[in-house]
Amino acid sequence: MEQKEQWSSKLGFILAAAGSAIGLGAIWKFPYVAGTSGGGIFLLIFILFTLLVGLPLLIGEFIIGRSTQKDAIESYKELAPNSSWHFIGRLGIFTCFILLSFYSVVGGWILIYIYKGFTGALNGLTEVQYGTLFGETISSPFLSIFGQFLFMAITIYVVSRGVTAGIEKASQFMMPALFILFLLIIIRSLTLEGSMKGLEFFLNPDLSKITSDTILFAMGQSFFTLSVGVSVMVTYSSYLSKKESIPQSAISIVVMNILVAVLAGLAIFPAVFSFGLKPDAGPVLLFNVLPTVFNQIPFGIVFLLAFLILFLFAALTSAFSMLEIIVAVLAKGDDSKRMKYSWIIGLLIFVVGVPSALSYGVWSDVLIFKKSIFDAADYLVSNLLLPLGALLIAIFVPMKISKERLVEEISSGSSIGKKIFATWFLLIKYLVPVVIVIVYLDVLGVFDY
Ligand code: PFF
Repeated sequence: MEQKEQWSSKLGFILAAAGSAIGLGAIWKFPYVAGTSGGGIFLLIFILFTLLVGLPLLIGEFIIGRSTQKDAIESYKELAPNSSWHFIGRLGIFTCFILLSFYSVVGGWILIYIYKGFTGALNGLTEVQYGTLFGETISSPFLSIFGQFLFMAITIYVVSRGVTAGIEKASQFMMPALFILFLLIIIRSLTLEGSMKGLEFFLNPDLSKITSDTILFAMGQSFFTLSVGVSVMVTYSSYLSKKESIPQSAISIVVMNILVAVLAGLAIFPAVFSFGLKPDAGPVLLFNVLPTVFNQIPFGIVFLLAFLILFLFAALTSAFSMLEIIVAVLAKGDDSKRMKYSWIIGLLIFVVGVPSALSYGVWSDVLIFKKSIFDAADYLVSNLLLPLGALLIAIFVPMKISKERLVEEISSGSSIGKKIFATWFLLIKYLVPVVIVIVYLDVLGVFDY
């Protein structure tokens, strides 16, 4: 049998899985959803969901992938032969397809901003002018579609050339660089006048602001940022060697992810309040606020450009993972097919994403359930498809994988697996499914009286 290509090192796998996890979710989406959903209380619930629900699921996906060494559909077929459980993988593929269609729109915004940064268009504006410039950029049909196309073209090109070659190398220095730049922005943001109000908004949980939406959005956000529920992590861990520890890898990814989200919040909210902007501006928040903060730093434009490039990289490594799982299923290890399917699927995703790209401009009045096309696609993915996939995975793992196999997978590579097994098992078998169902019942109003 052909030897499955494996990650060249443990670090390679962690960086790629963390690369999938850390992206627009933590850097762009987390701050604006926190801004519309109550600030500190959202942060608290998000962290709880990530640790108690997201982490057990991540470990579950890693176990499915590594124990079978197969893709997002074949792995379920191997563990539960002659059954319909591989539907979980199909659902994940569909979810990634829709997800990447609007994710690439935001990727395009970053590309356009990088271009504008180089032309000097981002130098020395006021906060109002930055807001106007961004509004003009995303409402231009040409710019937004062109940016989205370019982002997809890069994604397709890298994925078509195979998984380890492209992703692993670059991650090693990009992530630490992103951390450093974040620290720089945070220092500036915190030293602006009136910034403490922002800190208070972001870090002080106000219990009275909890609504069923806050809880639903925090749950969706924790799945979104960890890339769980779609079997992307099943696919990535299918390349992982048996020598590595699954819980250790999962914990380090979760910790990094929470850290990036907190850093993004610390960078943005103090500045938002200091400039007298609104924290609930929505998807435009980061793009309106950060250029203004960088503008207050000596040589700010250089740092802004560096930040945008790292931000682009973080978005791309997540995008690769979404396209990768679809292509892996279709190409089944055949390199010539990989090339073909990367382009076919990638271009289809681009086409499906065009309405999302237009929804900030010419199609801004097209509404689906009172939401713009972009917001509706995001809502469908984050709050319906990801939790559904997560629920099915939480049911699948304890039911279809024997306890001996679970213990073996979780404890290979390090001693912490044995210690946490019982807790993990309780969480994934009981807490995760129960919590997801309760959140839905709550949204449907079952607990209202
Ligand atoms: N985790 C990515 C982010 O936070 O940007 C988004 C994502 C990537 C979600 C891949 C799901 C996925 F399969």
